[in-house]
Amino acid sequence: MARIGMIGPGAMGQAHIERIHTVIAGGRVVAVSDVDQAHAQAVADRIGGTAYASSKELIESLEVDAVMICSHGPAHETDLLACIATGKPVLCEKPLTPTADAALRVMEAEIAGGRRLVSVGFMRRFDRSYRQLKTTLDSGALGAPLMVNCAHRNPSVPDHYTWDMAINDTAIHEVDIMRWLLDEEFVSARVDQPRRTSLAPARLQDPLVLVLTTASGVRVSDEIFVNCQYGYDIRCEAVAERGTLSLADQNAIDLRTSAGASNPITMNHNERFFQAFVTEVQEWVSAVDRGEHTGSTAWDGYAAASVCDAGVQALTDSGTVPVQMIERPAFYA
Ligand SMILES: NC(=O)c1ccc[n+]([C@@H]2O[C@H](COP(=O)([O-])OP(=O)(O)OC[C@H]3O[C@@H](n4cnc5c(N)ncnc54)[C@H](O)[C@@H]3O)[C@@H](O)[C@H]2O)c1
Repeated sequence: MARIGMIGPGAMGQAHIERIHTVIAGGRVVAVSDVDQAHAQAVADRIGGTAYASSKELIESLEVDAVMICSHGPAHETDLLACIATGKPVLCEKPLTPTADAALRVMEAEIAGGRRLVSVGFMRRFDRSYRQLKTTLDSGALGAPLMVNCAHRNPSVPDHYTWDMAINDTAIHEVDIMRWLLDEEFVSARVDQPRRTSLAPARLQDPLVLVLTTASGVRVSDEIFVNCQYGYDIRCEAVAERGTLSLADQNAIDLRTSAGASNPITMNHNERFFQAFVTEVQEWVSAVDRGEHTGSTAWDGYAAASVCDAGVQALTDSGTVPVQMIERPAFYA
């Protein structure tokens, strides 16, 4: 049984705890820590675990075998470095870090330690429909992919959501899943800024379109619309030489009433990607038990952060911004 310590059991963290304690085998959250210590204590009381006064104490505790980091992105680096220093496997929610410089420091520490310990919570890689897209594209039946049109829509975002998070906290999902789907790196980023919705806070450019180009020239456009009001709507259409492929509607059921037929829209990531989160965390817990690594690596976190750095720059400087990345270290081959 993997004894898990969780840092930052907010909305995402508590959803993970629920999964681990109900549908996932082989793990239990035994320890929590949070900047809000009263909150950590309340969660610990509810799950019968221990609340630690700091993430450092939690990471170093002998009762913790592995760590999940579910705090906000800017807090991830320090805790990732502490996990690596103690040799504990860690599943870190996306983004690994909000900038490529910070991700590089994490990667360098992991390489120096000589063992892959860091997994990044890019759960879409575990989603059945994205996996079907990849299997079909990889089969070559449709020829080479040429363009991918994506959309990432949220009903609304919280007050702490800053202007750059449209790229480095939201679009980062598409950046990762497109690197995985197309199996190549992005070389440049541009941001188109359409008419703003009146329903977004003034600090945000919402919606925006991040336009990315891969090394072979595939163009990915990603509409980010985080105050769309109506639902959590993730769309993806790959256009290849001999056909197109899209994610189907989100729910497995169709609703038919006197008003007509419809496919209910999911309202959040936990609903839409329920199966993907379960598979992601189950595979990680099982790998922790076997002493193995699974899932996206620190390299994937770094590569995604590098593309997002270019995207954030393109949001303030108009024009196309090149993606700056180091060569993939042999450690992550
Ligand atoms: N995979 C996904 O689809 C997905 C969806 C939502 C959020 N996330 C990611 O999960 C993480 C958390 O998001 P959330 O929506 O749960 O936020 P949240 O605000 O609900 O929870 C974050 C928690 O972290 C705590 N915290 C903040 N700074 C901390 C620090 N320095 N040390 C310890 N605890 C700290 C907060 O007090 C809070 O309890 C973010 O990285 C976010 O990008 C991923």
